[in-house]
Amino acid sequence: MDNMIFELKNVYFSYLGKFPALNGIDIKIQKGQKISIVGANGSGKSSFLQILDGLIFADSGSVNFYGRELNEKNFNDDKFCRSFRQKVGFVFQNPDVQLFCPTVQEDIVFGPLHLGVEKKLIERRLERLVSILGLQGLLDRIPHQLSIGEKRKVAIASTLIIEPEILILDEPTAGLDPLTTRHIIDLLIDTGASGKTIITATHDLHIVEEISDIVYVFGCEKKIASFGKASCILNDMELLKANNLLHIHSHRHKDTVHVHSHRPSGQGGASSIGLDTHIDHH
Ligand SMILES: Nc1ncnc2c1ncn2[C@@H]1O[C@H](COP(=O)(O)OP(=O)(O)OP(=O)(O)O)[C@@H](O)[C@H]1O
Ligand SMILES: [Mg+2]
Repeated sequence: MDNMIFELKNVYFSYLGKFPALNGIDIKIQKGQKISIVGANGSGKSSFLQILDGLIFADSGSVNFYGRELNEKNFNDDKFCRSFRQKVGFVFQNPDVQLFCPTVQEDIVFGPLHLGVEKKLIERRLERLVSILGLQGLLDRIPHQLSIGEKRKVAIASTLIIEPEILILDEPTAGLDPLTTRHIIDLLIDTGASGKTIITATHDLHIVEEISDIVYVFGCEKKIASFGKASCILNDMELLKANNLLHIHSHRHKDTVHVHSHRPSGQGGASSIGLDTHIDHH
């Protein structure tokens, strides 16, 4: 089927054969879908994305990309590997993994130069991304000396500049200020509107409604606990609670500590708070 990009059947993966990360994942990802992956720390989100990107390989089960198995043998085939890397862009959770050039500009243009994209086109794409992500003034800097948020923006630019048809992002907005987060959401919406497939793991639940048409919740058992439309998932309090996805606030009045949990929804802020539980501790 031409529209089927990724098809995973009963995928298990553990690190070094002893630290389980994925316990039986079944998922089909079709062309053009916008998918968010949410879940508690350690629920397997990053491992899942790395399986999709061929960075690690399943211990058992099957992972297919356009009907071809993603295994070491196929990645050793230069032609397959090059075409896969051209089609699939990956933004790591840890931007340090991605940045290795002496300057920011070299880091951003490394991918397209390596893939033989025309220089004029690279310049145009660079100019656009620099303006959207506010990277002016950083282009001559040493990537490793940047702040974490700045590094993340450079890592995102270095992936988007390739204009891959499938974009996999691991926590793209973690640690970014609200305005930059907004710009990245807009960039993802624009990219998605052009028919690209976007798969995002995130803890920022307030962004998932805008960037995804389907949300997968990875549970503590390191498999899919539930999936559905963002609006349904974000309103399922029991599901959110069971998977550490409820926000907890506590504040003190005299001798009383008030603890509120609330679902994350809408574009942030107190206006989106729907109180669920209210516990007083004396
Ligand atoms: N390099 C590694 N070596 C050993 N175990 C690992 C390694 N990376 C991850 N794990 C384990 O695999 C499991 C899944 O980790 P993963 O990073 O995929 O979770 P995650 O959902 O992305 O978490 P987070 O929200 O903290 O980013 C965890 O139990 C973790 O301890
Ligand atoms: Mg992770």
